[in-house]
Amino acid sequence: MNRDRYAVIGNPIAHSKSPEIHAAFAAQTGQALNYERVLAPLDGFGATVQNLIHAGFRGCNVTVPFKLDAFALAQQLSPRARAAGAVNTLSFRDGEVLGENTDGIGLVTDIVHNAGVPLRGQRVLLLGAGGAARGALLPMLEQQPASLVIANRTRAKAEQLLAEFRDFPHMTAREFDMLDEAFDVVVNATSASLDDALPPLPSSIFAPDALAYDMMYAAMPTVFLRFAASHGARVRDGLGMLVEQAAESFFIWRGVRPDTAPVYAALRAQLQHS
Ligand code: ATR
Repeated sequence: MNRDRYAVIGNPIAHSKSPEIHAAFAAQTGQALNYERVLAPLDGFGATVQNLIHAGFRGCNVTVPFKLDAFALAQQLSPRARAAGAVNTLSFRDGEVLGENTDGIGLVTDIVHNAGVPLRGQRVLLLGAGGAARGALLPMLEQQPASLVIANRTRAKAEQLLAEFRDFPHMTAREFDMLDEAFDVVVNATSASLDDALPPLPSSIFAPDALAYDMMYAAMPTVFLRFAASHGARVRDGLGMLVEQAAESFFIWRGVRPDTAPVYAALRAQLQHS
């Protein structure tokens, strides 16, 4: 049987879970596809994509450090990709390269559907103003939170993000130590957890029953999630976001929505035994 080919491109790429996730989605939905890992040289993203197109691939995911290259390379961009300034999903259709970004909607789906926490009408705090924060903003704002505060170590970057999304009301930028109110949902989009670091946050940011979400995930809770739990928040790491962004890419390519719950459960079990 002829199988449609997809890939994830990154550098490094060996540890990407995307092939496993997409293989599970394909098996579950009966879609005939192959999904491969592709290591691109740091200065060779464009050439790698061209090779895939010539080989007949239908699309690819893009991960660190190539999401900005993918944004620049795409001939058409979805509104979410435009707002994110980055692309994690390319589709090769009719000689054109279409760029989308599914990271932010993956985050929102995981919070709203999987964790069962609405964003609509809620007070939301977004920590960080880098690529991950930018990618999350439009899908979060589309949920119409009552307010959204961006807090970042470097205030100027938070202000810049605010300026780019100035059409949305109820948004403000703050430094960590200027946070003097409580929030219903706090999303950590900084990369601090990678260094086992915690931004200097007041413990008063968590409203009763608040959800604390870290876009990172690991076998053990991140330092941010441990801090949040010790101040009464419910906690959730980014494993669900990983699975949901993949599901959204799968839907873009195949027009079919996989059931993410069993795939998430299998990855969680695997993570705990790693
Ligand atoms: P990513 O693509 O993961 O978002 P990035 O664009 O480099 O990566 O952004 C990293 C974000 O994490 C930034 O908001 C950064 O804050 P600065 O803008 O002040 O650099 C934030 N960050 C990284 N390490 C941090 C730490 N130890 N404490 C607080 N914020 C941190």
